[in-house]
Amino acid sequence: MSLHEQKKQLRDEIKKRRSELPVNSRTKMSQQIHQFLHEIDEFIQAKSLFCYISYLSEVETQALISDFLERKLALAVPKIMGKTEMRAVSLDNLSDLEPDEMGILTPKSSQAASDPFDIAITPGLGFTERGERLGYGRGYYDRWFSRNKVKTKIGIAFEIQIVDKLPLEKTDMPLDILVTEERIIDLRVTK
Ligand SMILES: Nc1ncnc2c1ncn2[C@@H]1O[C@H](COP(=O)(O)OP(=O)(O)OP(=O)(O)O)[C@@H](O)[C@H]1O
Ligand SMILES: [Mg+2]
Repeated sequence: MSLHEQKKQLRDEIKKRRSELPVNSRTKMSQQIHQFLHEIDEFIQAKSLFCYISYLSEVETQALISDFLERKLALAVPKIMGKTEMRAVSLDNLSDLEPDEMGILTPKSSQAASDPFDIAITPGLGFTERGERLGYGRGYYDRWFSRNKVKTKIGIAFEIQIVDKLPLEKTDMPLDILVTEERIIDLRVTK
């Protein structure tokens, strides 16, 4: 099987596993993940953040987004601009969002927020304890990370998304910290 086929197979498996989690446990686990985030110094001190807006069975981020807006932090959220580009667009108010063609809440504005970002809260399908990431298959995050400076890349995922090994390419960008409902995995510390 080619690497791309292996990636696709694993995406389908993990997507299925994640969608089978009951909604109430997804919400509870998401809250635990938020609590863990609040134990991370870089997260507490962050002034500029990039954070995805959760969709379907992803780790929920609505409460995080509301908190960032309330605290008037410089927040940017993703906007898909075509087949390869994802842009970070500033968000000041939830009323500035509308569903895109996939149904994902997206800013109406297309104006790119400028890097650097202190933190990027990153979604994905599969992760390893080494901070490796398997995304949704378009390379949006990999490309965005290669073009934008982010001090601390934080992946958030449910424990069932952690696997022993991922098929990887050179362009797959690793994370600095991975947070699940069970643990904080800090990859920046050399052990
Ligand atoms: N920085 C990059 N420059 C050019 N091509 C890239 C880059 N990053 C990834 N790609 C290409 O994009 C395609 C999709 O990448 P990949 O399978 O890693 O997606 P993904 O990480 O699952 O998706 P996403 O980042 O959107 O969640 C691959 O063919 C990959 O080679
Ligand atoms: Mg990738």
